[in-house]
Amino acid sequence: MPAAPIARDPEEAARRLRAGQLVALPTETVYGLGANALNPTAVAGIFAAKHRPHFDPLILHQADTDRTLDCARSVPRQARQLAEACWPGPLTLVLPRRADIPDLVTAGLDTVALRVPDHPLTLSVLQAVDFPVAAPSANPFGFVSPTTAAHVAEQLGQRIDYILDGGPCRVGVESTIVAFMGERVVVLRKGGTPVEQLEQLLGHPVEVRTQSSSRPRAPGMLSSHYSPGIQLSIRAGAPVQGGSRERAVVCFGPDRPGGPHTFNLSPTGSLEEAAQRLFGVLRQLAAGGYPVAEVELVPDHGLGQAINDRLRRAAAPPA
Ligand code: TXA
Ligand code: MG
Repeated sequence: MPAAPIARDPEEAARRLRAGQLVALPTETVYGLGANALNPTAVAGIFAAKHRPHFDPLILHQADTDRTLDCARSVPRQARQLAEACWPGPLTLVLPRRADIPDLVTAGLDTVALRVPDHPLTLSVLQAVDFPVAAPSANPFGFVSPTTAAHVAEQLGQRIDYILDGGPCRVGVESTIVAFMGERVVVLRKGGTPVEQLEQLLGHPVEVRTQSSSRPRAPGMLSSHYSPGIQLSIRAGAPVQGGSRERAVVCFGPDRPGGPHTFNLSPTGSLEEAAQRLFGVLRQLAAGGYPVAEVELVPDHGLGQAINDRLRRAAAPPA
């Protein structure tokens, strides 16, 4: 297959989705690999391009809240409340599935994951088509998610049809995934919407269940997901010195060592900037050929929780 064109034409992206093609789409979190969710052949193409196991279900994306919630058989009160407050935005809701959504999308589960992404180009694509778009992150299974069109092109460019270039992703980590069990609200994946924000909106604490065993509820929960292709070692506290060719350093904040092999996620100490840069830095480490990188965790609040989750998983030995 020739390399996918990289361009900024949402109408072309919509036309190709209607034709059953695979189109990489920018979102505020990471780039997604989109296909018509109601076309099982197109959806099968996503799994093939990513080498994604079929037990791992996909998120459906649409442009407006009502149409998105219509993909669910029923919508609990708290789900509607979060959708209205957070969409478009980095939040995915797991809800009872409507019967016409293909089994391949939901991996045969009785639930479906839904979100309205917050990126103007992709919102115009979603408005232009009359079906939901299934889109996992546009990376080979188990690898870190792409946050630029170039990241997508490097790894999947030969296996997909088109890359819609919406620039670097604003948030930089994937959406927060939330499920509802009776009155309980359960976070399945920490992400771009901080847990504190959910609790503030709902007025009560939520459960966080992001660790999982071999049959994960969300395979983003697999402990060794997000492999950057190099060995990461998490360090308690600040690095004592800067990085070297033999040992890169990933750190955070203004008081940290500088130097060519030291990757500061945010020299100003901004968790937003650190989230934006995280996956790009992991890719730079792999490209730099470092045998090992010593990683400092970031403060564990707000977006910091999603960043630390991805760093810990990236450091976990392969399953
Ligand atoms: O920010 C994001 O969520 C990005 C952008 C492209 O929207 N998408 C993304 O998709 O991260 P993906 O496929 O890489 O991660 C989706 C996660 C998977 O871990 C999957 O297991 C989980 O969502 N998931 C999907 N449907 C589910 C369901 N019905 N119940 C529980 N987890 C589900
Ligand atoms: Mg992913």
